Amino acid sequence: MQYIEICGNNRLDGSIAVQGAKNSALPILAGAVLTMGESVLSRCPDLSDVDACLRIIRCLGGSATRSGDVVTVSGRGIGECAVPQSLMREMRSSIIFLGSVAARCGRACMYLPGGCKIGARPIDLHLKALRELGYKITFDGSNICCERANAHGGTVKLAFPSVGATENVILASVLLSGRTTIINAAREPEICDLADYLNSAGAKISGAGSTVIEIEGVTKLHSAEHTVMPDRIAASTLMCAAASASGRICLKSINSAHVASVIDVFRQMGGKIAATVNEITVEFTDRPRAVNSIVTGVYPGFPTDSQAPVMAALCKAHGRSAITETIFENRLQHVHELRKFGADIKVCGNTATVTGVNVLNGANVNCTDLRGGAALIIAALGAQGKSRIYNIEHIDRGYENTERQLAQLGADIRRVNDEKGQQTKTQYKAHSA
Ligand code: UD1
Repeated sequence: MQYIEICGNNRLDGSIAVQGAKNSALPILAGAVLTMGESVLSRCPDLSDVDACLRIIRCLGGSATRSGDVVTVSGRGIGECAVPQSLMREMRSSIIFLGSVAARCGRACMYLPGGCKIGARPIDLHLKALRELGYKITFDGSNICCERANAHGGTVKLAFPSVGATENVILASVLLSGRTTIINAAREPEICDLADYLNSAGAKISGAGSTVIEIEGVTKLHSAEHTVMPDRIAASTLMCAAASASGRICLKSINSAHVASVIDVFRQMGGKIAATVNEITVEFTDRPRAVNSIVTGVYPGFPTDSQAPVMAALCKAHGRSAITETIFENRLQHVHELRKFGADIKVCGNTATVTGVNVLNGANVNCTDLRGGAALIIAALGAQGKSRIYNIEHIDRGYENTERQLAQLGADIRRVNDEKGQQTKTQYKAHSA
């Protein structure tokens, strides 16, 4: 068992290059299955979810290797259409492979895990959209089979701009004959990154980043090189760290436009923010100010993935903040754990009201989900004394070497391997490279 141990209240200071985006790397890796050539993906984050994708690709007959932050995928050998249940269980985003495997192999068979802690996570929009393109689908709630049969381009109107459904339709239609139009498409930057990668491999996708995306089918995709976009959620989490522990940090290799709504909230929190196109400096010299109202929304709204870390950063704010979650039905699970630090949070429906306290105290807490886990790290960084954060496999799904990054900024943080009561600490020296 591993846990993260943090001695809080150390001011943060320094610069850090933001990791590649998990939510971009996963659909791009699903896209690599469509190609007959080699995809060389730079800044591909080293995360357990990404690793699960690489293993899925190998199971399908492709090859996938990593050297540093460069992942090379060859789609040449792909022929297997079934992904083992054990592998699908490891990653909830596995649905993203449905469209690409069915398009490439003619058939995709996979097992899909059901709901998770943040809500039911239905896939009805994915299935309806693929059926509208002519894919034949059988689904018993767990096992799903999708056949390409006589699928062809068409118009798909999404009832909600689901990120995953938009990506699945793009992946499922790139190799179909004719033109596909997605109406009410998700506008998240990760959709643009997927389209850019596929276009560099020979696809013809236009309109990504707007509500209408057009895909002109091509017969084949070829080799491509692509650099994964910076992770806007990891960037906003680091900004939360500066707000919680105080300090001045500079985020490099970021696209500032992607975090505009988050920057707006940090300015309301009293943070000094200096942003250029690719760099953001955040400074908090004192406890943050409360923010009247934060409401999560689809891009360019405030990201649901930043909701939990920002809530944690507001636990010590001067005043009362209201945070409303509108995207997922059950994404306030971290509140229970944040209260263990002494946070004063009341929940009514999907709104959490956070009354800032003068001091948070170190606590032993459990990660409930990926972003909820990040929130616990943020709270611990601003808490007096020692905290232990358990169930950190959630954090490893989305944050690359989180303890090393935060130690580099001056946090007192370490990962502890607790094998049968014997502890081995992976200690990073503050400000080490
Ligand atoms: C993606 C991100 C996730 C982020 C979310 C919203 C990845 C790997 N994950 O998740 O980090 O929090 O976007 O920005 O990119 N819905 C349905 N039916 C469907 C599909 C979705 O009802 O078929 C609902 C979901 O339950 C949820 C909402 O739509 O309430 C948003 O989901 P969606 O945009 O699809 O998020 P994901 O693609 O799962």
